[in-house]
Amino acid sequence: MGVLVKAENLYIGYKNEMVIRNANFKIYSKDFVFLTGVSGSGKTTLIKSIYGEVPVVKGSLNVGGIELNNIKKSKLSYLRKYLGVVFQDYKLIPEWTILKNVMLPMLISGIDKSIAEEEAINLLNKVKLSHKLDKYPAELSGGEQQRAAIARAIIHDPVMILADEPISGLDEYSANLVMDLFIMANREKGITVVIASHSLPQTFDVNYRQIHLEKGQVHELS
Ligand SMILES: Nc1ncnc2c1ncn2[C@@H]1O[C@H](COP(=O)(O)OP(=O)(O)O)[C@@H](O)[C@H]1O
Ligand SMILES: [Mg+2]
Repeated sequence: MGVLVKAENLYIGYKNEMVIRNANFKIYSKDFVFLTGVSGSGKTTLIKSIYGEVPVVKGSLNVGGIELNNIKKSKLSYLRKYLGVVFQDYKLIPEWTILKNVMLPMLISGIDKSIAEEEAINLLNKVKLSHKLDKYPAELSGGEQQRAAIARAIIHDPVMILADEPISGLDEYSANLVMDLFIMANREKGITVVIASHSLPQTFDVNYRQIHLEKGQVHELS
C-alpha cells in the first residue's frame, strides 16, 4: 500500500511553543487512523499542518507526494482538492440549504448539478437527514449539522478525510451515524480516514491504527 503522509523529524508549533517535536510517522493509503491525546497535546495543530494550514517549522511533512515544508500557496490549493476536512471552524454556509451545502465540493469540482444533487441526497439519506434537505444550518441541531458537514467532506471522494473531533459532544445516535459514514467511506470508497479525537468512540467496527500524541512526541499505540 502506498504511503500518503510521511513525517520525518517533523517539528510543528507556534511562535512561543513547539507543539510536535521530532515526529516520525506514516499514514498509508486506505488507513483508518485515530489521532489521540489529551486536550492541548497538538491534535488540531497536527491535523491542520497536514492540510497545510499550520506551517512546518522544521523537518519534512510529505502529503500525497507534496512536501509541505515551504510549500507555495498555489500548490496548496491543488493539494486541498484531494482532501476532505471536518474542522470545528469550517462551518456550513448559513445562507445555503443543507442540500446545497453538501453539493458544494462537487460543484467546485465542476461536476454536473444534477449528479451532485443526486449524490448529496444519497449521502444525506445515509446520515438520516433526508427530511432536512431544504432547511438552513441554523434550523438543525448541532449533531445534525455535524452529520451534514461530514457528508460534505466526503461527497467529492477525497483521497483522505481529516476530521477534528468529529464526534465530540454528539449524542450516541449522531455519533454512530457519523462513524458509520466514515467507515463506509473507508470501506466502499477506499478513502483514507484520519480522525483526531481525545478518546476512541464507544463502539465501532473497523480495523484502525492509533497514533498518539503526548508531550510533543508522536508514537503509535497498538
Ligand atoms: N494559533 C495558536 N497560536 C499559538 N498557540 C496555539 C495556537 N493553537 C494552539 N496553540 C497551542 O498549541 C498546543 C496544542 O493545541 P491543539 O493543537 O489545539 O491541541 P488539541 O487539539 O490536542 O487540544 C496548545 O498548547 C495550544 O495552546
Ligand atoms: Mg483540538
